[in-house]
Amino acid sequence: MDDIRNIVILTGAGISAESGLATFRGPDGLWEGHRVEDVCTPEALARDTALVHRFYDERRARLREVEPNAAHEALAALDAQWPGELLIVTQNVDDLHERAGARRLIHMHGGLCSALCAACGKAKPWADPLPPATVCDGCGRAALRPDIVFFGEMPYEMDRIDEALRRADLFVSVGTSGAVYPAAGFVQTARYAGARTIELNLEPSAGSFYFEESRMGPATELVPALVRELLA
Ligand code: OAD
Repeated sequence: MDDIRNIVILTGAGISAESGLATFRGPDGLWEGHRVEDVCTPEALARDTALVHRFYDERRARLREVEPNAAHEALAALDAQWPGELLIVTQNVDDLHERAGARRLIHMHGGLCSALCAACGKAKPWADPLPPATVCDGCGRAALRPDIVFFGEMPYEMDRIDEALRRADLFVSVGTSGAVYPAAGFVQTARYAGARTIELNLEPSAGSFYFEESRMGPATELVPALVRELLA
């Protein structure tokens, strides 16, 4: 790992599983009892606004009951100590990376602890339940919604992510099924740009084939071990 300076780390639901948060594609194919398309699309928000708000209210409340685990903490330590460029890109909408202390972090799919005005586009930190038609203090319209990037919407900060991928010497993917684009394609961008690529997951993902190296096991073991290697 001596020649590595610039690192991009992509995380998915698997990194938070051992903190007690459900992954999106569990054995029953449901996310906390719901089909993803019933709670994670603009159509669902328009059709059943109360259900979608209630669903994310429950997910936001659940965050108070869980803590970052050893994998989040190891990445925060790497962020604090790594002298080169580093970017953690998470698909997760929980706040466990930042609660562990990570700073160089992008929430590409939005976050539960933020509310977005559908009228003016302003986002603001949000800790409490978010009833439908809550008024935006920026534009005065009753248009606040969960700040979650729904299917069919553009993930956040794609330009910054793309630049980091093109400069990366190492790309690591942790606990993601590789089922959702554009994140599932990051490995190919990084590899094309010359980065070494490592996947950390409980089992081979849909995109395992694209990685030079796959390490299988729980994130709380594999991530601290990789961070130790990098900081050695
Ligand atoms: P998934 O639920 O699709 O995949 C979770 C992955 O984590 C699987 O490959 C599991 O094998 C792995 N995994 C589970 N427990 C693990 C552990 N303890 N250690 C390591 N790996 C483990 O979740 P994502 O890939 O994150 O979008 O899903 C991608 C997107 O789909 C999400 O961001 C979400 C969803 O629709 C939005 O919310 C917009």
